[in-house]
Amino acid sequence: MYASLDTHARSPNPQRVDPLRVLLVSSEAVPLAKSGGLGDVVSALLSSLHARGVDARLLLPRYGWIDPSGYQRLTDPLGVPMGDGERWCGVLRGELGGAPIYLLEHDVYFDRSALYHDEHGAYGDNVRRYALLCRAAMQLCHALDFWPDVFHGHDWQGAMLPLYLDIGLDPRFRRTASVLTIHNLAHQGWFGHGDAEALCLGGRHLGRLGVEVRGTPNVLCGGLLHATQITTVSPTYALEIQTPIYGEGLDGVLRARAADLSGVLNGIDTDVWNPRDDPHLPVGFDAADMSGKARCKAALQREAGLREDPDAMLCGVVTRLAHQKGLDLLAGALDRILDLGDVQIVLLGTGEPWAEGFFRAAAARRPDRFAAFITFDERLAHLIEAGSDAFLMPSRFEPCGLNQLYSQRYGTLPVVRATGGLRDTVTNLDDREAGTGFVFHDATADALYGTLAWAASIYRDERPVFEAAQRRAMALDRSWAQPAAHYEYLYRLAAARRREERAA
Ligand code: GLC
Repeated sequence: MYASLDTHARSPNPQRVDPLRVLLVSSEAVPLAKSGGLGDVVSALLSSLHARGVDARLLLPRYGWIDPSGYQRLTDPLGVPMGDGERWCGVLRGELGGAPIYLLEHDVYFDRSALYHDEHGAYGDNVRRYALLCRAAMQLCHALDFWPDVFHGHDWQGAMLPLYLDIGLDPRFRRTASVLTIHNLAHQGWFGHGDAEALCLGGRHLGRLGVEVRGTPNVLCGGLLHATQITTVSPTYALEIQTPIYGEGLDGVLRARAADLSGVLNGIDTDVWNPRDDPHLPVGFDAADMSGKARCKAALQREAGLREDPDAMLCGVVTRLAHQKGLDLLAGALDRILDLGDVQIVLLGTGEPWAEGFFRAAAARRPDRFAAFITFDERLAHLIEAGSDAFLMPSRFEPCGLNQLYSQRYGTLPVVRATGGLRDTVTNLDDREAGTGFVFHDATADALYGTLAWAASIYRDERPVFEAAQRRAMALDRSWAQPAAHYEYLYRLAAARRREERAA
């Protein structure tokens, strides 16, 4: 599929070089704001589009922790007309990966110490905060005299844009298309009917737009109904979300829009994740010389307080400790896995209190074979990717997943459940000529245990087979070149469709 899209994107007609203009609207972008993969993906996409010659820019909130020095303030503040009055915002202009980035300043909404919630739970005004971001995106274009062909929103926080375009809130954008990317369908941006007015969806709009799921309005539902094109971050997840099991109540909407929904597999930042030249590692390595990997393994075993044993299969886990990630499967299988005798596990992550407690206690109980770092630590994440032999991702659902891609690049074989992007990126080693990891299907502790025990037996008894799979995994091309070309093609498709619709 990529090949034909790619040909399309690089139009054979050299006359047609009109630069495409795209404004990305997101709640996260590394290194400024990140709760998960979304932040990595948005920044890498922005700079890859820029490298392709697309005039891609990004609008992000200026959260409390973002240092404004190094940014230039737009002279005039932005007046953003929301349904409950005009809100005045500052705009800071800077650069991210070579491309322009704008930070939206609104102290009441964004000068906070966390992205979406504090210790009492989710902020009560989240929907208003990100509706402001989307409405401000349109006002920003006026201020900059920048007229995008496409607004590209990410997750529910960027999903108000397609609605605002379709309502005709601002006639200047009559011909502007929208692309909405789903990174995670589980978060949808619910709001009450009483909020509609303030969100610029008052009066007749709410009923007409059909944004309700079981009687409650929901930003993502609205965005999915009204976006010109919808994407998600892997082909398998694009199919899964059209079924009730993965659809989170939106599968009907997604089936209705199936013709405009596609999966574009995420890439990874191959400069940041480069085992040969990774400043977080004590020593680098590549497929031609893996001796550095063995030294990273020893360093990791030492740091984790595990026995320094080159023959134990060391398994890494780096994750948010959330239901999505299937940690309950690992919890259910942990003792049996450790009883195998020649398997060690090191886990890094924070999240749900039950999981933090469970894995802390397990580490105290089995310190020889299991270590848990209940924290967030970028350096250690790199060392775990590098020093492990295998990497566990028993996700219940996984729109794309990035850690299995990092793992493969570091010659660490992923052990994954066959779902979403995990299914699309890991070939099971039951195919000995092509395998790049280990795959199981059932979301059960037994299935995880069985597959991990099988992986350990190959590591123990058939090391050349394991090592050949490591080399194959390291040779995979995971750069952003292909995905960025695919997005450019979809932007052009969306822009052309929108122009046609509006000309009719
Ligand atoms: C979300 C998904 C993850 C995906 C990432 C970036 O965090 O859970 O699977 O890789 O977004 O698209």
